[in-house]
Amino acid sequence: MENYDLYLPTHLIFGRGRIDELPSLLPAKGSRILLAMGGGSIRRIGLYDKLRELLSDYEVFDFSGIEPNPKISTIRRAVELCKAQKIDFIVAAGGGSVIDAVKCIAAGAYYDGDPWDLVLDHSRIGRAIPFCAVLTLSATGSDYDNSGVISNSATNEKMFLAASNLFPQASILDPTYTFTVPANQTAAGSADIISHTFEQYLVKEGNPFTDAMCEGVLRTVFEYAPKAIAAPDDYEARAQLMMVSSFGCCGLLSIGRTPSPWPCHGMEHEISAFYDITHGVGLAILTPNWMRWSLTPETAPRFAQYGVRVWHLNPQDDVMKNAQKAIEKTAEFFKSIGLPSKLSEVGIDDKHFEEMADHVAKIWWSFDGALRPISRSKNCGLFSCRFRLNCAGTGASNRPKRRSAEMTKHNVFKNCHAERQQRIVKMHCGGMKSRRCSDTHAKIGGLDFRTS
Ligand code: NZQ
Ligand code: ZN
Repeated sequence: MENYDLYLPTHLIFGRGRIDELPSLLPAKGSRILLAMGGGSIRRIGLYDKLRELLSDYEVFDFSGIEPNPKISTIRRAVELCKAQKIDFIVAAGGGSVIDAVKCIAAGAYYDGDPWDLVLDHSRIGRAIPFCAVLTLSATGSDYDNSGVISNSATNEKMFLAASNLFPQASILDPTYTFTVPANQTAAGSADIISHTFEQYLVKEGNPFTDAMCEGVLRTVFEYAPKAIAAPDDYEARAQLMMVSSFGCCGLLSIGRTPSPWPCHGMEHEISAFYDITHGVGLAILTPNWMRWSLTPETAPRFAQYGVRVWHLNPQDDVMKNAQKAIEKTAEFFKSIGLPSKLSEVGIDDKHFEEMADHVAKIWWSFDGALRPISRSKNCGLFSCRFRLNCAGTGASNRPKRRSAEMTKHNVFKNCHAERQQRIVKMHCGGMKSRRCSDTHAKIGGLDFRTS
């Protein structure tokens, strides 16, 4: 059993109508509150008016226009507003992007320099404005963790900041606010929840407790995402998705397990940094390909366990066959809810693959600790190779992240700065063969990566 730290100070307030309890979470009447929001969805669902009513005893400053994959340029403007208006508290109303942005805004307001510095160097994060979240989209788990993912369009970087004081004080989770989430965002959010779970479940050593939690999350999403897409105002379906989404990134699912370098997230953040695609869409493309690539005789029992416990495959069947079936069931599920399976389907070619691979090798955790370790050669990186396979419509996509051995994702966030400072970029050819974009299929490490 691995050692772990788990610190989860956020108060989750779940259920229909719980927004009425917001005032009990706020500082003294008359305080100055920033109401942070995205591009307009909270106005369309009536949440904005409700919030203004509940905040009527406060001096409220609106900050709207936080975009998906929130940009540092937007955050800079919000930080200026917080500083100028001496904001005491922030209410973040929206999806993961709004909540993530608020974490950077909250810390940026007490920092003298550019808030992007805080993303590059977490040790610079000091005091932060306290905040709470009102979640409107089930996906990221930002409502229950201490990290925010911020994009810098000027440098094509998408990176996270994290600190122990960047948890929301409370998060209000009312599933009715997600009734209006369109089918494509519901599907992408579901893929995100699934990927968070796989990143922690598909590791060398698990344990019965967190195996069961991960399998429970997966079964929940596989059952209820199609229901929420078919009937957007199905309260039970939306509630099930919202409940499980909170636990994706808080570290709970990984306690006592082999630490994971979250390879699909390392790759996806590079892709959405360059192409600004929806996070969950990128994950839906990468995940089945990463699973196929990770499947070996040694790793097959874990995939087979997933197949038996989540997809009800026959435990008496051959382990490798069950493992393969489980992976294909996952790929079919993503397709069934309308998600793409190739980068080429979202207009991404191999132009920036080398740059992405170099960048992730510098800023992410080592992928050496992935279920199947991944190496990166200087000139023909596995990352590029994987992306090429996808752009050619042929298959696997996988690459390593940086991460030190002892950490859950929560701890990763807490310790990432120290790790970044200490890390040595390891690049070596580890027996992986590169493939060209024109390949119609590829075998790497003896495995075949055709997608169809
Ligand atoms: O901007 P508005 O108008 O609010 O519209 C949003 C946005 O266009 C819309 N939306 C949200 N709630 C809605 C709604 N539309 C109708 N009805 C509602 N109730 O949905 C669109 C996407 O919103 P966004 O917040 O971007 O989605 P999501 O929650 O998936 O957040 C994605 C961001 O979170 C990061 C991702 O990388 C990405 O930048 N992540 C954050 C993590 C964390 N903090 O721990 C971990 C994740 O792995 C992820 O990296
Ligand atoms: Zn994610």
